[in-house]
Amino acid sequence: MQLIQFTTSLVLCTLATFSAAFPVNGSTHEIDETQLDRRGTSVPFGAVIDRCTVPGTFALTFDDGPFIFTNKILDLLRANGVRATFFLTGQLHANIIANGDIVRRAIAEGHQVGSHTWSHPWLVGGLDQNVMVKQMTQLESAFLRIIGRIPTYMRPPYLAVDGSVLAIMGQLSYHVISASIDTKDYENDDPVAIWNSFEKFRRELDGGGTITLAHDVHRSTVDILAQAMIDEIRKRGLKMVTVGECLGDAPENWYRGAR
Ligand code: CO
Repeated sequence: MQLIQFTTSLVLCTLATFSAAFPVNGSTHEIDETQLDRRGTSVPFGAVIDRCTVPGTFALTFDDGPFIFTNKILDLLRANGVRATFFLTGQLHANIIANGDIVRRAIAEGHQVGSHTWSHPWLVGGLDQNVMVKQMTQLESAFLRIIGRIPTYMRPPYLAVDGSVLAIMGQLSYHVISASIDTKDYENDDPVAIWNSFEKFRRELDGGGTITLAHDVHRSTVDILAQAMIDEIRKRGLKMVTVGECLGDAPENWYRGAR
């Protein structure tokens, strides 16, 4: 009986706290959080997460795809027998719907995919909340078409967040994933310079970082950095897993159905 009461009050609390209305295009776009079940996970929503909580795990993440190099990263991960997480955009370097095969392949091979917004804008600095919501829901529609589900994990472009971003992501029931190792591979996309990114990676790994950020849209990352990171992590005896797994979250919580 006590359990039933507790569950009932939790549901009521969830309804009261997370129902939110956003006017879009003059009409009211209701975000119906009542359909979302948050109880299966212990990972917080709308709060910045930048490291793994399961001891001995490490999360490789690749942002800004899909792109022409993504399949090559998938080949490399498969050859190494390791899992990673891809934070995908709707329309940045390529269109996600036109590259649905890549998204489905990543999931079929055990990787996790998350949202990185539709077109990669800065979300901070007073971006209209309706625009922010649209950046997420437009990509949700694409994911529904491609995989029939919506990711529950997202990464803010440029890792940029403020209170407004976190509030919206919380209302939309997203886990917000930052990084504790930032390779800045986009500054070093060159066969020689990319080793600067590797050295930065190694320093931040020494500092205890467990979620690393790189991009599968840069040739040197795909050709050099990714394998170098994998070799180094392996040397440290860490297990490379998805972000969800490194946070102890069961795979059924990594995606949800339509809102
Ligand atoms: Co990005």
